[in-house]
Amino acid sequence: MSAGDGSGRALGRWWWDHVVLYVLAGLELLVQLWHDLVLAHGWDRKIEAQLPDVHGQCIVVTGGCTGLGHEVSRLLAQRGALVLVGCHHHSGGNICPCDVQEFGVPLPLDLSCPESIVTFARQVKVRAPNGVHLVVLNAGVLLAPPLHGYDAQYLINVHGHAQLLQLLTLAAGPSHQSRVLAISSSTSAYWPSLPTDYLQRASPATGPNPQARWSLARSYAYSKLALRHMVAAFADRADVRALVAHPGIVCTHLYRAVPQPLRLVYELAAPWLLRSPRQGALAVLAPLVAAALPAASEAQLTPAPHLHALLPQAVQHRLQVTPQAQLGSTLLLAPSRVC
Ligand SMILES: NC(=O)c1ccc[n+]([C@@H]2O[C@H](COP(=O)([O-])OP(=O)(O)OC[C@H]3O[C@@H](n4cnc5c(N)ncnc54)[C@H](OP(=O)(O)O)[C@@H]3O)[C@@H](O)[C@H]2O)c1
Repeated sequence: MSAGDGSGRALGRWWWDHVVLYVLAGLELLVQLWHDLVLAHGWDRKIEAQLPDVHGQCIVVTGGCTGLGHEVSRLLAQRGALVLVGCHHHSGGNICPCDVQEFGVPLPLDLSCPESIVTFARQVKVRAPNGVHLVVLNAGVLLAPPLHGYDAQYLINVHGHAQLLQLLTLAAGPSHQSRVLAISSSTSAYWPSLPTDYLQRASPATGPNPQARWSLARSYAYSKLALRHMVAAFADRADVRALVAHPGIVCTHLYRAVPQPLRLVYELAAPWLLRSPRQGALAVLAPLVAAALPAASEAQLTPAPHLHALLPQAVQHRLQVTPQAQLGSTLLLAPSRVC
């Protein structure tokens, strides 16, 4: 257990945060099942049928070896895009251990390592000299322990992506606005505001015990909220369209760090109860379907097609991204080397 600084208060906070995470996620799962099986049966096939033709477009997907990123890459490649896939566990040679090369171009990418991000961005530039039309910020970790002294959720989910966005050249033209699609999470609505000292506390300079910052459950939620702020701020600044999507609760490797006995329950029940990676990918690609796009450039969270509208007004409001993010531009600052 990463219970923090060992004090009773820290332990209580750890338990409370995990209870909040699992209870709210359980409730969300019930709503999701109701939506997927009763209210909007076949929603995934409808979205798949409406996915736009992306021939001639270059698309970057991070964390595409597994799970949602893998399915997002495959779906976009089937629609004609050149998909450049950031693979974390790339062998380092020419061959990627996953099957991405069957539909896209696997490129090594470790978002916790600035040098790896720079190399990845260079390789993207070589393959897409006219720029990238869509960047899918998909890679992410949940309940991961600190890395290089940083909160790993911040380092990979937020900071690595911010650095990558700064390095990529986005394609622009009179008939096209490039887009950034961030895979966020509805957990960011469970703790809907970031601590004002979030950046300081996520960095190594916070003291001897980094885990005393906050529980890893909350750390994930904060990172996904910060990602939304970062993308909204980037879009405002770079004149691109930002989209933020939630895939629903999907059966992937993301939950590998969930503590026992919940982990066992997850392994037994997930394949039956949760969305498949393909369904999760279609949920996050829903904002690309023309009819679902907002008129103006703005961020939006789509928990599931139509699900948003079912939520109480107060919750709907929480799921909207405020373009004038409280932290926005600060999150785009790149820190010094960490590996
Ligand atoms: N599954 C859900 O229910 C759910 C719900 C809400 C949001 N999401 C979000 O959806 C996204 C995809 O997650 P998933 O469910 O598909 O889980 P996943 O299968 O674990 O995918 C996460 C991907 O991120 C990659 N990654 C991890 N550390 C990285 C690093 N340092 N540099 C580059 N890539 C790294 C992983 O690569 P390796 O496996 O090789 O480390 C993996 O390919 C995540 O951002 C997650 O937060 C998922």
